[in-house]
Amino acid sequence: MKQVGALLRDSRRVLFITGAGVSAESGIPTFRGAAAAFPDGRTEEGEPFEHVLSGSTFLLEPELSWKYFFRLELSLRGKQPNAAHLAMADLQTSERSVCIATQNIDGLHQLAGSRFVLELHGNLRRIICPRCEYREYLESFEGMSPLPLCPTCRAVLRPDAVLYEESLPEDVFDQFEAEQTRGFDLIFSVGTTSVFDYVTQPILAATERGVPVVEINPEETLVSNLVDFRFAGPAGKTMQALVEAARSP
Ligand code: OAD
Repeated sequence: MKQVGALLRDSRRVLFITGAGVSAESGIPTFRGAAAAFPDGRTEEGEPFEHVLSGSTFLLEPELSWKYFFRLELSLRGKQPNAAHLAMADLQTSERSVCIATQNIDGLHQLAGSRFVLELHGNLRRIICPRCEYREYLESFEGMSPLPLCPTCRAVLRPDAVLYEESLPEDVFDQFEAEQTRGFDLIFSVGTTSVFDYVTQPILAATERGVPVVEINPEETLVSNLVDFRFAGPAGKTMQALVEAARSP
């Protein structure tokens, strides 16, 4: 704790790669947790969870996808940032830039006050029209039609979130790459199973360059044996303790 606190104190460019575990203490089920709530990971339609939230299902059966977008939105509604989100936002100073590359689509890092958030998987409540320029941010999906249509062109609307089978938003991906090229002096992986290349690559590259990497996750992941420091605990308590350690030499 002391060592990572000291690294944080001296850091000027910090990257946090975050996943669903960061929002778990806000009461939002993790991705694996949500899938596990269905018998055999299957939905009421007997389909795998990933199928109903895939790009092809949205095109062929948008009403089915929307049924689960509504459920996802309900699981996020009214949820507040927790100690982990707040601690990451607290670390921003005039001398230290904090970049957050998150796989979460709940907007809680921004709500906590983080100013530099790269939403790798988009944002569930940002609604866009796939056909025209229409877009709006909704605090809640309450009262929406089961198949929301664009008020401008009548196409089926969708959340500006990455569905299964879809690639990352190009502008966000490019920005993430540009930030990695500029370099970081400390990298954290918090609350993610780290299954995607684009979240494991920065960690691999950092360990090759000698940039310290810290993991916070109660469970072991694919990157656990690569990192320099590992805290096998919940994100909120651990992040709070790290911010304290960074403040008191
Ligand atoms: P997962 O649900 O796969 O994993 C959540 C991780 O958080 C696990 O490694 C848990 O051990 C950890 N965890 C649980 N509670 C925690 C806590 N209190 N503090 C810290 N860690 C905790 O979520 P992600 O890794 O974010 O993709 O999943 C990545 C992507 O997989 C999702 O964005 C989604 C899914 O397929 C798309 O939708 C495209």
